[in-house]
Amino acid sequence: KVIKLSEYKKPDYLVETIDLVLHLDNTKTLVQSTMKIKRNTDEVTPLILNGEELVLKSIKLNNETYTDYVHSTENHSLTLNKVPAEFTLMIENEINPEANKTLDGLYKSGTIFCTQNEPEGFRRITFYVDRPDNMAKFTTKIVADKKLYPILLSNGNPIARGDLEGGKHFVTWEDPFKKPAYLYALVAGDLGVIKDTFKTKSGRNVALEIYCDKGNENKCHHAMESLKKSMKWDEDRFGLEYDLDIYMIVAVDAFNMGAMENKGLNIFNSAYVLADQKSATDTNFYGIESVIGHEYFHNWTGNRITCRDWFQLTLKEGLTVFRDQEFSADMNSRSVERIQSVMGLRAAQFAEDAGPTSHPIKPATYMEINNFYTATIYEKGAEVIRMIQTLLGVDGFRKGMDKYFELFDGQAVRTEDFIHAMSVANNNFDFTQFKNWYGQNGTPLLKATSKYDEAAKRFTLTLTQTLPANAPKDAKAYHMPVRVGLIDSTGKDIASKVLELKETTQDFVFENITSKPIASVNREFSAPVKLTTDLTFDEQLFLMAHDSDSFNRFEAAQVVSTKLILDLIEDAKAKRTFELNSKYVEAFGKILADNTIDEAFKALSMSIPGEGVLHQEQAEIAYPETEAVRTFVKKTLATAHQDTLVKLYKSIEQKEYKLDPKSMGQRDLKNKCLDLLSYVEGGKYNSLAFDHFKAATNMTDEIGALTTIVHANSVHKDEALKAFYDKWKHETLVMQKWLTVQASASDESTYDAILKLEKDAVYDRTIPNLVRALLGQFVATNKVQFNHPSGRGYKLIADRLLELDKLNPQVASRLASGFKDFKRTPKVLQDLMRPELERIIKTDGLSKNVYEIVSKILG
Ligand code: ARG
Ligand code: ZN
Repeated sequence: KVIKLSEYKKPDYLVETIDLVLHLDNTKTLVQSTMKIKRNTDEVTPLILNGEELVLKSIKLNNETYTDYVHSTENHSLTLNKVPAEFTLMIENEINPEANKTLDGLYKSGTIFCTQNEPEGFRRITFYVDRPDNMAKFTTKIVADKKLYPILLSNGNPIARGDLEGGKHFVTWEDPFKKPAYLYALVAGDLGVIKDTFKTKSGRNVALEIYCDKGNENKCHHAMESLKKSMKWDEDRFGLEYDLDIYMIVAVDAFNMGAMENKGLNIFNSAYVLADQKSATDTNFYGIESVIGHEYFHNWTGNRITCRDWFQLTLKEGLTVFRDQEFSADMNSRSVERIQSVMGLRAAQFAEDAGPTSHPIKPATYMEINNFYTATIYEKGAEVIRMIQTLLGVDGFRKGMDKYFELFDGQAVRTEDFIHAMSVANNNFDFTQFKNWYGQNGTPLLKATSKYDEAAKRFTLTLTQTLPANAPKDAKAYHMPVRVGLIDSTGKDIASKVLELKETTQDFVFENITSKPIASVNREFSAPVKLTTDLTFDEQLFLMAHDSDSFNRFEAAQVVSTKLILDLIEDAKAKRTFELNSKYVEAFGKILADNTIDEAFKALSMSIPGEGVLHQEQAEIAYPETEAVRTFVKKTLATAHQDTLVKLYKSIEQKEYKLDPKSMGQRDLKNKCLDLLSYVEGGKYNSLAFDHFKAATNMTDEIGALTTIVHANSVHKDEALKAFYDKWKHETLVMQKWLTVQASASDESTYDAILKLEKDAVYDRTIPNLVRALLGQFVATNKVQFNHPSGRGYKLIADRLLELDKLNPQVASRLASGFKDFKRTPKVLQDLMRPELERIIKTDGLSKNVYEIVSKILG
């Protein structure tokens, strides 16, 4: 049941070419596959093909009917007992796309036929050697009703098309590049499209096409602009040019993840394609640019060079996330991008890495690979790549990338191969110790202390790394780049460099330092660690005001507020009265009033550490107290600075709607002011929020105001929710926001609201976006209501998870990870949670997706 990296064996047989014919039908799609297969070992072994939920019709080997096989529906395999060393295999099978609610393999999203084959979906289309180190050339002939499905798409280039009898037609596609089956795609539908072209650096014209439901064409322009920017950026930064004559993107509503990099035919969750001023927020626009970039960048890091096996997932995902982060940084604001990425890393990955499903970026075992599309593989994986760039420098990293393509283009490789390329391109840089980042789980702790010797003018910084409690027993010290700056009393940098920490404890000496400096450590978050320092509260406030590194300026505020909040939580638990440190209140006010700080950065600086981040610091999580203290802090800050906040709010005038980083920062700041003001006693600013809501000309303002109104339980709550619903009920992406706002409201009524919302016409549990918007949000962000003392939150989610597991195990398993704080939940709540977890795990026919997660949580 458990798959191990140590048991990797190359495939016994390889498929050289596969020619597919698919006769599309809602419930009975006929798949005809013709494969040229070659033995890949010296031994004569049976040929074992993967296959799931397939109805086998016929098998022919070298044109002769073949009968010496075993089809095990239970083991998802088709075994051909005796086959020659080289042969042609023809298999016919049938599938039922309409009944396929797993959204894996070929399925229907509304009226559109589409596919998702990563990691192991192709085996739900036809029998195959479904693993990434089996790379074949694909052709596909799609046959379908011409009226219902005028558009027929697959990978590569169209090479033939024509009409057939019975109102049908066909298109044949040929992909000239060998690829693993997980990159195979097919789409059929009556789709709208926008078209453009891109001229590559070598002068080739590439046709760009974005497909969507008819009527949504006007919402595809931002995606198209983002695609062209991505193509240009990859040429400029990495010298990488697109390699086919056509690049297509299709937006569908029913999709398990964000998007998929199928060769030449990306399939996207519509949430990452469709946007316009009225219906999409700035966050949506930003996310679209980033995901369009991500999938495009996969064409080289993922498709041209792919993974040998799924343990190598971070080879393509960590690297591609790093590339999309760099792209976003270049297109927008580098410092805002960095701060947001680190906030995301902390909220999701640090929590994961400290909990029951903690795993290294390169896991050694898995039960269900779909459970490993995680923040660790993706986001921590990207941090590891970023450290490599920090160690080698941007130019050295680029040389390593060039070498990677020179050595491995067209192959399925391992993370070691990537490191090898980086090393040989950089004078054999020694990555021996650095590789520990790949195999060890847990977030390392880093401590920085300092000594200043005035007489010797010497500053010594001592860095000490500690491995976290859940790291492997034999875990070794990391090789980490720690970017450090020394700041003098005027705020000027007097030293700045990257230190390479390799030992458990190391002293770094700075000579000729004429006055006692303050050390700014781990600038730009150069190593993904939890840092503690010996800086005093006043020194932190100094960094908050003066650090030339914007990340650490932001970080100082987070360090200060986290410490204060955690202390207050202790007060709250002991039922002591509490009070917010006045120096902090004052420093917060200084940031608000400082008009040399740009809006985006100011808005970020106003963030109060999230509940999830605060929970990570608690051995036993105090849910209500954490929430109450956060509310208290916001209320105190808002009350103290209400005049400044109102002034700031009013000072930002946007005459016309623009989508540049400056305007986005302004809207963010305005909405942050509004939200903070809603904490002032007595609903004093209720009407300000309601006016903002009514006057909104874009979704950022409209949903920002609605969130404030609902979360503050304002008198305008019902009216605003209804107005929003009436206006937007026909747009599922907007209704997802409407559900999210309500599911994340922390008051008692939310539970009943969820039960009611599930029955609303806009809700559909077979669409993952809607489940995530309602139940996923409730679990992930509504900590107080999910952990309600009655246990009703646990029961609700367990019920829904079991219902969903029968339809879509991937969605069910993501909900299951919402129970991951089990062991750190107070005993009384554990006693309510445990029976639910046990009920789940004892359920007959439970998916291995959910089983793997819940068994780890129960420990
Ligand atoms: N490779 C895709 C991406 O990173 C993710 C696909 C994952 N899909 C899944 N069902 N696990 O964009
Ligand atoms: Zn990816």
